[in-house]
Amino acid sequence: MGAKRNILITGGAGFIGSHVVRLFVKKYPEYRIVNLDLLTYAGNLENLKDVEGEPNYTFVRGDICDYEQMVELFRKYDIDGVIHLAAESHVDRSIKDPFTFARTNVMGTLSLLQAAKVCWEGNYEGKLFYHISTDEVYGALEFDDTLFTEQTKYAPHSPYSASKASSDHFVRAYHDTYGMPTIVTNCSNNYGPYQFPEKLIPLFINNIRKGKSLPVYGRGENVRDWLYVEDHARAIDTIFHRGKVAKTYNIGGFNEWRNIDLIKVVIKTVDRLLGNEEGHSLHLITYVTDRLGHDARYAIDSTKLKEELGWEPSLQFEEGIEKTVKWYLENEAWLDNITSGAYERYYEEQYSNR
Ligand code: NAD
Ligand code: TYD
Repeated sequence: MGAKRNILITGGAGFIGSHVVRLFVKKYPEYRIVNLDLLTYAGNLENLKDVEGEPNYTFVRGDICDYEQMVELFRKYDIDGVIHLAAESHVDRSIKDPFTFARTNVMGTLSLLQAAKVCWEGNYEGKLFYHISTDEVYGALEFDDTLFTEQTKYAPHSPYSASKASSDHFVRAYHDTYGMPTIVTNCSNNYGPYQFPEKLIPLFINNIRKGKSLPVYGRGENVRDWLYVEDHARAIDTIFHRGKVAKTYNIGGFNEWRNIDLIKVVIKTVDRLLGNEEGHSLHLITYVTDRLGHDARYAIDSTKLKEELGWEPSLQFEEGIEKTVKWYLENEAWLDNITSGAYERYYEEQYSNR
């Protein structure tokens, strides 16, 4: 592999994508990083303010479902590596609107795969299609000590995880059928700066600062495994450069939390950083009707990634949550723009004529 690479990162204006774009743009000045994003409600170029002027960075607004546009993009930038993150990503939205999830996550991934296949013309030397997926494709674990491994059978439950599972299968099919070099990784729940405040942690931080209620689904006993987003971005960097083609890697930090316990840590941290006395915001906890089909527990075994490629999370959860809460409290304008919907109108106006 030569030193020069032209890398297409899809979904780079979203939460995880923006951290991946930032890492690659800063770490690899010799690469050209093309960020392709539709700027849906979840995409926000504010997330990338600090890299937008870099000479190795290009933003293109576009839809992964637009096959012709994807072919044009591959040809124009001579793309030889893809890191595919663009997706609809929120389980609750998928329960209300599964069609959008099938369109973006399944058809969009297929359109991108086909564009890569046609443009690479069977010459796969030095090429890589790296697909970012979730542990939710494995279904749900019992409340015991079992973990998802790379051998766990797919058993998705929500429309979101069903659409991600389908896209994972298409990626593997392009390897098995056409010989395309592909990698799939399945990661646990991410948290950190720039996460859209519909997901548990930023939603609750936002609500606490505004004194709004904190809707806990069911009894708050569901378990999730949390990883700081920059650790996920570092794992993606490691795997993009040193992962074995056609393999799957699980990414996680062995960091399981019952929702209600996690929520109490978030409340305590926000209250402390806002100068409130301990317990001040606990009364905001409101138990609400459970999510339909709510998966009981997710927990990832990432031993393979550690043993084969030496990746480990760098942050302890306590540090990660402290950094995260601080970031949201110091970036209230970012939260206010999103929650007021102003940024959506702003970008609509800014990009509607391109
Ligand atoms: P996100 O919702 O924050 O961002 C998704 C991005 O994709 C947005 O910028 C959006 O504008 C863009 N996008 C949506 N539809 C598009 C389309 N048709 N064409 C081009 N761009 C489009 O999501 P996220 O949380 O950053 O997740 C990124 C990826 O990582 C997803 O594939 C998700 O399934 C996966 N993942 C997420 C988590 C998590 O905890 N957030 C965990 C494991 C895996
Ligand atoms: P979420 O951040 O939506 O991620 P995922 O569903 O992909 O795991 O939710 C994390 C957990 O928190 C999940 O068990 C659902 C729960 N939850 C609530 O209890 N209340 C909420 O308002 C939200 C958004 C999530």
